[in-house]
Amino acid sequence: MCGSSLARWLLLCLELLVMVVVRIQGEVITLSNLTAVAGLPIMLGCNVTLATEDKVMQVRWLDQHNQLLLSYETGRPVRLTKQHDGVTLLSSHYNVSLITIKRADLSHEGCYRCVFDIYPSGGKEGQTCLTIETKAINEGNKTAVSGTLATLSCWYGIPDRVQQVLWRKTANQGDTIKVASFSKRGNPSIDEPFQGRTVLSHTLGTTELSIQPVRTEDEGCYTCEFHTYPEGTRSAKTCLFVYEPNQPYGTGRYSAGRYGASCHNLFRVLPNPAITFVTSNGIIEANCTTTARPAAHMIWNVEGENGTLGPSTLSAQDQGDGTTFVTSTLYLQEKLLPDLPVKCIVHHQGLESPMSVYLNLNVGPALATVISVSCVVVLLICSLCVCLCKCFLC
Ligand SMILES: *[C@@H]1O[C@H](CO)[C@@H](O)[C@H](O)[C@H]1NC(C)=O
Ligand SMILES: *[C@@H]1O[C@H](CO)[C@@H](O)[C@H](O)[C@H]1NC(C)=O
Ligand SMILES: *[C@@H]1O[C@H](CO)[C@@H](O)[C@H](O)[C@H]1NC(C)=O
Ligand SMILES: *[C@@H]1O[C@H](CO)[C@@H](O)[C@H](O)[C@H]1NC(C)=O
Ligand SMILES: *[C@@H]1O[C@H](CO)[C@@H](O)[C@H](O)[C@H]1NC(C)=O
Ligand SMILES: *[C@@H]1O[C@H](CO)[C@@H](O)[C@H](O)[C@H]1NC(C)=O
Repeated sequence: MCGSSLARWLLLCLELLVMVVVRIQGEVITLSNLTAVAGLPIMLGCNVTLATEDKVMQVRWLDQHNQLLLSYETGRPVRLTKQHDGVTLLSSHYNVSLITIKRADLSHEGCYRCVFDIYPSGGKEGQTCLTIETKAINEGNKTAVSGTLATLSCWYGIPDRVQQVLWRKTANQGDTIKVASFSKRGNPSIDEPFQGRTVLSHTLGTTELSIQPVRTEDEGCYTCEFHTYPEGTRSAKTCLFVYEPNQPYGTGRYSAGRYGASCHNLFRVLPNPAITFVTSNGIIEANCTTTARPAAHMIWNVEGENGTLGPSTLSAQDQGDGTTFVTSTLYLQEKLLPDLPVKCIVHHQGLESPMSVYLNLNVGPALATVISVSCVVVLLICSLCVCLCKCFLC
């Protein structure tokens, strides 16, 4: 009888305890599991829900060994009472605490706690368990213009553990070849088809492969492999797209094979837009044109819609060499045209940002030259005058 009531009482106590634990944990909002990449900063944060009368007095961060990592007293200004090397307080807004650890390494794995010392309700804490991941990181896909320099780079967070770096290339056709390698002991080695125009950095944590001049046939996906001990091989893939520069407008049609179309059916050509126009009876007919591969897309930008006569029309013409000649035609009313610029904006996957060309009605290229030449002449005469005045008259 007595025993069973004791058991019931104990059970009740336990239930209460569980409720309290859940409640306390529920008041600090934090990620329970977090993955960080070795070599990159770690960010740990806790949010606490406060009652109106609650006031946070102090916040403490404890590491996986229960050691104090960082602590501060709230108030203005916040007073740091303990700060471990490489740990910084990022945010201490009254119900938020955010810290960073400068550089993650494998020893950082474990569970971290944030403890809010609150008056009058007591302490509240949250826990985040950290997993450290080791992986190779690159800058994503790259584009390059044929004939220039293309640089691919890759990075691994624990350089001491890298024994060798190896670059491979997978061509569009799917076959994979070795490009270059560099090991802890020894010089970089560049494989045959890349010799003479390829340089590999003498580094293990960050590896950089530079090709100059880059050619159409260099297009493909490149994999950097870090052979590390004891983690094993870590790799990352980046694809390089090589574009041909375009010929200036008006140099004639593009002959098939000029871009090596016969050998590489995946060649790409950058746009090189130009604007032509004719004016008759106060109506301007303006064309924005360019060849490119794949076809470029363009839109007109006219400030104040009043000057335009309807939307622009787009026409595309296959050039027979794989490139497409695109024309966007816009009709404008000369007298309603604003003083603001009228421009044609060209979008193309080979351009980092859209290209703009302006419709210039008043100042033709010849006139612009005359103006700038006369400016120079006037300046020269002026300085001559000043000189003469200084030397002889004054
Ligand atoms: C904590 O609060 C900050 C700012 O209010 C917010 O950006 C963040 O997502 C919150 N974190 C969690 C784990 O809820
Ligand atoms: C967090 O990690 C632990 C062990 O690493 C695992 O048991 C648990 O399911 C994870 N929780 C979440 C929410 O992913
Ligand atoms: C923290 O305080 C802000 C107001 O400053 C509030 O909007 C937010 O909901 C609070 N966050 C928590 C977790 O209580
Ligand atoms: C890079 O290019 C490849 C090949 O076109 C594509 O499959 C991949 O999704 C691209 N990656 C990114 C991050 O854009
Ligand atoms: C604009 O292009 C159209 C056809 O695409 C052509 O008929 C017209 O003559 C061109 N006008 C100018 C000013 O180049
Ligand atoms: C455009 O036309 C409207 C009426 O059609 C006129 O109210 C407005 O002032 C005009 N804007 C410009 C910039 O000319």
